[in-house]
Amino acid sequence: MSDVSLMVNGKRVSGAAEDRTLLVHFLRENLGLTGTHVGCDTSQCGACVVHVDGKAVKSCTMLAVQASGSTVLTIEGLANGADLHPVQAAFKEHHGLQCGFCTPGMIMTATDMISRHPEGLDEATVRAELDGNICRCTGYHNIVKAILAASTTMKGSKGKAKQAA
Ligand code: FES
Ligand code: FES
Repeated sequence: MSDVSLMVNGKRVSGAAEDRTLLVHFLRENLGLTGTHVGCDTSQCGACVVHVDGKAVKSCTMLAVQASGSTVLTIEGLANGADLHPVQAAFKEHHGLQCGFCTPGMIMTATDMISRHPEGLDEATVRAELDGNICRCTGYHNIVKAILAASTTMKGSKGKAKQAA
């Protein structure tokens, strides 16, 4: 067993984990953060995506001990209280989900994608960047629409913040 200490969704957390424990299992089972899903055992589906030190990572591909000392953001930490994050709001607005199983991973991938493309996104880029996230329900159309809409909203709000500064 090893001690794992992380900053998760703005809170310092620690616990003992076997060396083979994956980050996704540590989040779900030790911390009760079950919004991060496990949809495969081949690192293909992307249901487990979280941010580690600001970057989207499939949390089934990392050991909890490897993540020790890092800052982790999960789907539970994305909203600002009752206010949905713009990507969450866009998924709601554009019906970017059906059963919802893939949605936490899609949203965490999308927020990372948008932050890496501050100039904005086009459909081809969104579809290419979603390569590592599988949805078994939607046919992707509304997910892509939601990500494009969120990208536009977030670009606009950054512009306004700049103007106000
Ligand atoms: S559970 Fe991590 S990629 Fe499927
Ligand atoms: S909404 Fe069901 S798997 Fe994507």
